[in-house]
Amino acid sequence: MIYYFSGLGNTKYVAQTIAESIGEEKYFIPDADPIEQIFSGSSLGFLFPIYSWGIPEIVMEFIHALPEDFIQEVKNRNTPVWMVCTCGDETGNAPEMLKDCLAKRELELKASWSVIMPNTYVLLPGFDVDSPEVEKQKLENSIIAVKAIAEKIKKGAWEWNLHRGSFPGLRTKVIYPLFKRWGISTKKWHFSPACVKCGKCVKSCPVKNISLGSAGPIWGDNCLSCLACYHNCPYHAVEYGKITCKKGQYLFPGVDAIRRKL
Ligand SMILES: Cc1cc2nc3c(=O)[nH]c(=O)nc-3n(C[C@H](O)[C@H](O)[C@H](O)COP(=O)(O)O)c2cc1C
Ligand code: SF4
Ligand code: SF4
Repeated sequence: MIYYFSGLGNTKYVAQTIAESIGEEKYFIPDADPIEQIFSGSSLGFLFPIYSWGIPEIVMEFIHALPEDFIQEVKNRNTPVWMVCTCGDETGNAPEMLKDCLAKRELELKASWSVIMPNTYVLLPGFDVDSPEVEKQKLENSIIAVKAIAEKIKKGAWEWNLHRGSFPGLRTKVIYPLFKRWGISTKKWHFSPACVKCGKCVKSCPVKNISLGSAGPIWGDNCLSCLACYHNCPYHAVEYGKITCKKGQYLFPGVDAIRRKL
């Protein structure tokens, strides 16, 4: 059984590829009511993008809310629990955050992998999408990386194999809490005069935080900072304060394109 979260499609592609390879069902966390979950399958996987050297809150909240019956079933069957995260460059100690979160439910995180994918973060000075060459290279490299992880899960070759980067503990312990507190201000989202009211930003939001008003999109307060609305606008009309006006956009090319090697 696989649970995943994805804003732009990087993690969805990894989840889909692994699910097909190991023969497990996959569920998108924003669409899965934790209370209604019944465990099935031979392993339990969590997949998500790295956010500021940490874990998207929606993933932690989901695990906290899983019913006791679900957890007992996982424990009774001695089910291996594993995770795969995608990141632009580095994970920090985010896997330890998941380990701690699972430990609170008395579950042990047996294995942990990261896959480097094109970067989606653009909301701070100095952060932008990758160049087309880097993006292509990362996507190509991901094919082998994801295949290798799926093989290890199939064989039960549990390990911790991560791109942690420098000062992982410090980044996760110090920068992630700052991101959680100050990382997103929903009031900063707005649309520019280039908006044609096509509604693509509305459809792209995984938590339905955007509605289409008569003048253009309206953002609510439940933003996960996934940046799907920003990257999916065909007219670069979604803006976050002034920081995004000169930033690039990333669109996941599609699973088929990746498998055809782009
Ligand atoms: C809010 C936010 C914070 C991010 N922080 C990091 C980070 O700390 N380290 C990193 O390597 N990538 C970071 N990224 C990049 C994403 O982890 C990466 O692009 C991921 O593959 C996106 O997955 P998705 O397409 O499934 O949303 C961040 C992206 C976002 C939107
Ligand atoms: S995707 Fe862009 S053009 Fe379409 S409604 Fe949203 S802001 Fe406007
Ligand atoms: S409003 Fe935009 S950034 Fe926030 S959760 Fe929705 S798509 Fe993601």
